[in-house]
Amino acid sequence: MVGKIKGTGSYRPVQVWDNDKLSHMMDTSDEWIRGRTGIGQRHIASGGETVAYMAARAAEEALSDARMRPEEIDLLLVSTMSSERIMPCAACEVQKLIGAVNAACFDLNGACTGFLLALNTAQAYLGQQIYRRALVIGSETLSHLTNWEDRSTCVLFGDGAGAVVLEAEENAVYIQAAHSIGSRGEALTCVSRNQQQFIEKDADLSSTYMQMDGKEVFKFAVSKVPEVITEVLEKAGKTKEEIRFYMLHQANKRIVASVSKHMNEPLEKYPMNIENLGNTSSASIPLLLDEWNKKGRLNSGDWIILSGFGGGLTYGASLLQW
Ligand code: UT7
Repeated sequence: MVGKIKGTGSYRPVQVWDNDKLSHMMDTSDEWIRGRTGIGQRHIASGGETVAYMAARAAEEALSDARMRPEEIDLLLVSTMSSERIMPCAACEVQKLIGAVNAACFDLNGACTGFLLALNTAQAYLGQQIYRRALVIGSETLSHLTNWEDRSTCVLFGDGAGAVVLEAEENAVYIQAAHSIGSRGEALTCVSRNQQQFIEKDADLSSTYMQMDGKEVFKFAVSKVPEVITEVLEKAGKTKEEIRFYMLHQANKRIVASVSKHMNEPLEKYPMNIENLGNTSSASIPLLLDEWNKKGRLNSGDWIILSGFGGGLTYGASLLQW
């Protein structure tokens, strides 16, 4: 017994910043950003578009897609590293906003692998028959953690949320592998702002924005993602040809292209939406899944592999049947 995805949903902030806008704010260009990353624009949260608000909007859409009522949800997880509030957790705020009154709620932070790790957690509860229906959401306001004076990182990120509804089923399939390499964690960091100010009154707050050794993270991603996808295929006894889509965390189109080449599987099997959304960390996989679902690109019975990677360093892959 594991969960099957019954519905998907997403939320994209109203405000859109394209590369030309950024090129008026700093020394960069559409040509550099598109060429190095594949990003053309990103959505930027404003007004009341918090992690919890966006998560709730995505959740409502996923519930409606699944034709389920909020009260039917037993478990509500939000994956985020950018929540505006430490307490109450975003999942409890979502519960209040959507009326999922019967759900146990908590947040998880696994950086860009977070959605996959939240999905694994929900599947463990469903597999043990502790709960029957779960809402799993990835929601990020990365623009709040972005140093808009650091062109090497700020052009990469965007805000948004994606959600899936799972229901436990006898014949559903979910096979996962997840790993962490804490010893390489310094490649991607962001210190809590409160903590930094507490330690040192006039602290330099630059470390409280996302800082990244881009080349190190790139090398990590292109070597570990094919490895963990292969691990899941072997665990499942499936061949790579049987997979309809490989849905990867959207960090860079060159990473996706490199994985496709390593796996010797055509790029058409690797959906991308990074051009319109940028890197939305733990929201990127559910946003992509929802887009492909809404476009009618997913057929019942399709085998899909999801793969995430990022801060921690963390990475993983999961096989599911649509
Ligand atoms: O989601 C979490 C996981 N994150 C990732 O997977 C990100 C992985 N890393 C990457 O995607 C790439 O490393 C980046 C897109 C971040 C950077 O690409 P790169 O090819 O590694 O570029 P670079 O950092 O080596 O910079 C190349 C040049 C440098 O100039 P010089 O030293 O060669 O003169 C940079 O100063 O590009 C310059 N540069 C820029 N130029 C224009 C860096 N950022 C920019 C910019 N606009 N925004």
